[in-house]
Amino acid sequence: MPIISLKNVSKTYKAQSKGADRDGKLVERVKKKSSRLIEAVKNLSFDIKQGEFIGFIGENGAGKSTTIKMMSGILYPSSGEITCCGLVPYKKRRENAMNIGVVFGQRSRLVWELPMSDTFALYKEIYRIPAERYERNVKTFVELLEMGEFFTTPIRQLSLGQRMRVEIALSMLHDPPVLFLDEPTIGLDVVAKKNIRDFFRERNGRDGTTIILTSHDMKDLDTTAKRLILITKGEMLFDGSAAALKSRYGDESVAEFTFAGAPDKLSVAFDPAKRKLSDIIAEAGSRGEIENVEVKSADIEDIVRKIYNG
Ligand SMILES: Nc1ncnc2c1ncn2[C@@H]1O[C@H](COP(=O)(O)OP(=O)(O)OP(=O)(O)O)[C@@H](O)[C@H]1O
Ligand SMILES: [Mg+2]
Repeated sequence: MPIISLKNVSKTYKAQSKGADRDGKLVERVKKKSSRLIEAVKNLSFDIKQGEFIGFIGENGAGKSTTIKMMSGILYPSSGEITCCGLVPYKKRRENAMNIGVVFGQRSRLVWELPMSDTFALYKEIYRIPAERYERNVKTFVELLEMGEFFTTPIRQLSLGQRMRVEIALSMLHDPPVLFLDEPTIGLDVVAKKNIRDFFRERNGRDGTTIILTSHDMKDLDTTAKRLILITKGEMLFDGSAAALKSRYGDESVAEFTFAGAPDKLSVAFDPAKRKLSDIIAEAGSRGEIENVEVKSADIEDIVRKIYNG
C-alpha cells in the first residue's frame, strides 16, 4: 500500500481581488463580482511508496506548495482524494501531524526570542516525544547538522543557514515516517546546500524516511531524488526517474567553440545519440582555426528549462 496517495486532486482558490474606486482609493469590491477563481492544482494523481525520495519540480506558481499543504493537512482539496499514512490529512490534522515533518523554507516556524534548546523542548511537549528518544534525537541532529555552537543562542541571532538547520531538525524531532520539504535550502550557499542534501540522503537511506522535496535548484534533485514529479500550471507533466526524463526529452549536449582571432563563440547543441562529436568539430573547423572546444552534456536543469520553455 502506498504511504501517500493522491487521486484526481484539485485545488481552487478564491482570490479576493481589491479594486480601486473612481477616486483611486482601494476598496473591497462586492465579493461575488471580484472573487477570481485560481485553479492551483488540477486533477493530480500519484502514489508514493514508503522509503521513496521524490523531487517535486515546477515553475513559480505551479502548485507545489499547494500540493504539499494538502498532503500535510494544512489545506483541504476542492475535489479528489488524499491519504497519507492511511489518514485523510485535512480530516485528521492532529494525527497526521504526528506522521509527518514539514519544512517551508519560505516561512519560519521558529520563535525569534527562543534559543533552539527551548524550541526543541517545546516540541517535545507538543509531540509528546518520550524523554529517551528526545535526548537521542537532539544529540544526533545537533551533531549531524553541526549546531552545538549555537544551541543556546536566540534564533534571531542566527544566520539563515543556521536557522534552516534548526527548522530541519525540528521537523524530524518526533521521527516522522514522512518528510515534506518545501525549498529547505532556499538562500543557502553551495556548501550548506550540499551538506543538507547529504543529510537528507543519509536519513532516507538509513531509516527509510519517505521524502518529498521541492527545490528550484536542480542540483538538489538531480543526484538526490530517485524519482522526479514535474508539474506545470497545477497539472502533471512527468513522473519518473532522472534517466527516463533525459531519454524522453532528449539528452542534449552543447559544444562551444572559440576561434583564433575571433571574439565570438559558436555554440552547437546536439543529441549525442544522433550526431557524432567528431562531425561537429569537423564542421566547426571549416569555419576557422579552432582555438578551444568545450563540451557540456545536458543536466536535469537544462532539460527542465527546455520543457518549461516549451
Ligand atoms: N492562499 C492563496 N489564495 C489564492 N491563491 C493562491 C494562494 N496560495 C497560492 N495561490 C495561487 O495558487 C497558485 C499555486 O501557488 P503555489 O504556492 O502552490 O505555487 P508553487 O509551485 O509553490 O510556486 P513557488 O515555486 O513560487 O513557491 C499560484 O497561482 C498562486 O498565486
Ligand atoms: Mg512554493
